Amino acid sequence: MKTFIVAAVSADGYIAKDEKHSAFWTSKADKKRFVELTKQAGVVIMGSTTYATLPRPLKERVNIVYSMTKTFEGAETTQKPPRELLKDLEARGFKSVAICGGSHIYNMFMKAGVVDTIYLTVEPIVFGKGITLFNEEMLYHLKLKSVQESAESGSLLMEYSVDYSGTPKMTD
Ligand SMILES: NC(=O)c1ccc[n+]([C@@H]2O[C@H](COP(=O)([O-])OP(=O)(O)OC[C@H]3O[C@@H](n4cnc5c(N)ncnc54)[C@H](OP(=O)(O)O)[C@@H]3O)[C@@H](O)[C@H]2O)c1
Repeated sequence: MKTFIVAAVSADGYIAKDEKHSAFWTSKADKKRFVELTKQAGVVIMGSTTYATLPRPLKERVNIVYSMTKTFEGAETTQKPPRELLKDLEARGFKSVAICGGSHIYNMFMKAGVVDTIYLTVEPIVFGKGITLFNEEMLYHLKLKSVQESAESGSLLMEYSVDYSGTPKMTD
């Protein structure tokens, strides 16, 4: 099961200014890649704070939202540990899964040791403070697989693989 993170950060490393800040601040090139990757996967996983910033569920994709307390129209709610959720999705026939944030959800999947690829866009903007991509201490090495520059926006679109060799795997 291919499990990838898709995220955009400011040049100073933030995914948002605060938790109400929707992800629509990113470039056209980033949005295009996001749509392509997530539609290919067919299933998107996100936290309830991120889902609350969307006007509606992401269409043509199964939307799965992590929440302890809430349910959402147009989305499935879960509290399952990452490995258990991925196993269920595999049994439902999905071959790849897009982890779409925010920080809490990126963090949880990364620490579970299940993320094989990170699609990261660096946008030419600074926020000064805000929400970081991950929110706990971790140490994983990444391998740069490809980098593309958008001439129009000046964005850098990177693809990294996560190298778990030599890094202790953490449990769910
Ligand atoms: N730039 C980007 O690429 C990008 C991508 C995605 C999001 N964002 C931004 O990130 C911000 C939100 O990030 P965030 O870290 O604050 O929030 P988040 O990760 O979107 O959601 C956190 C919420 O997820 C639920 N949750 C977390 N762990 C859980 C678990 N183990 N079981 C069940 N529910 C769990 C909880 O919801 P309940 O409180 O409902 O229980 C928690 O409050 C927004 O501003 C959004 O726009 C940016």
